[in-house]
Amino acid sequence: MVFWKKLFTSAGSITPDAVSDLDGEVLTVTNNTTTSETEIVFSTDRDIDLYELEDLCDRVGWARRPLRKVKKAIQHSFLVVSMWEVKAGRRVLIGFARATSDHAFNATIWDVVVDPKYQNRGLGKAMMQFTIQNLRNVDISNITLFADPQVVEFYRRLGFMVDPEGIKGMFWYPS
Ligand SMILES: CC(C)(COP(=O)(O)OP(=O)(O)OC[C@H]1O[C@@H](n2cnc3c(N)ncnc32)[C@H](O)[C@@H]1OP(=O)(O)O)[C@@H](O)C(=O)NCCC(=O)NCCS
Repeated sequence: MVFWKKLFTSAGSITPDAVSDLDGEVLTVTNNTTTSETEIVFSTDRDIDLYELEDLCDRVGWARRPLRKVKKAIQHSFLVVSMWEVKAGRRVLIGFARATSDHAFNATIWDVVVDPKYQNRGLGKAMMQFTIQNLRNVDISNITLFADPQVVEFYRRLGFMVDPEGIKGMFWYPS
């Protein structure tokens, strides 16, 4: 609760009015265009409708991946974070991220996505901070990710560093 209050004090349209929920955190978000109130829920439940997740990834133009492999990746992830808009008792998936880990020292964050309709409102930042907080809660201290060039600044603002102390990310692909 304290975490969210701290987190959202500076975020324009999001009020620091947090209450607890079943398996996530609930925020009350004031919709700027209407007077209606919408809840944004963050969850670590990995039971996610794969078609709904595929729709979300389609909306940001990501290449489709075989759902059986996505299912396996989610099952074997250390942490799965989803972000939902809850309105009139209905919930819609609007964000997703997951992390793999050695459960002791390291975690790597993958598949960070926010529905374009909900971008630029501080929600991606909130989802990432929720993810980082969950990893810190189990004492993971080395958190890495692979940033597409156009989002490096997004991650930099969250405290991620490019090539700290000259360390280079290296990749091997089948030729
Ligand atoms: C990247 C993404 C998750 C950001 O989500 P978002 O909800 O729009 O981000 P936020 O509104 O929380 O932005 C947080 C901060 O980062 C900045 N930011 C967000 N996207 C940015 C970008 N592409 N370039 C530079 N800064 C960016 C915001 O201006 C904001 O700055 P502030 O804290 O100074 O106000 C979202 O744009 C997305 O899903 N993109 C498509 C998928 C993708 O590229 N994922 C990353 C793969 S590595």
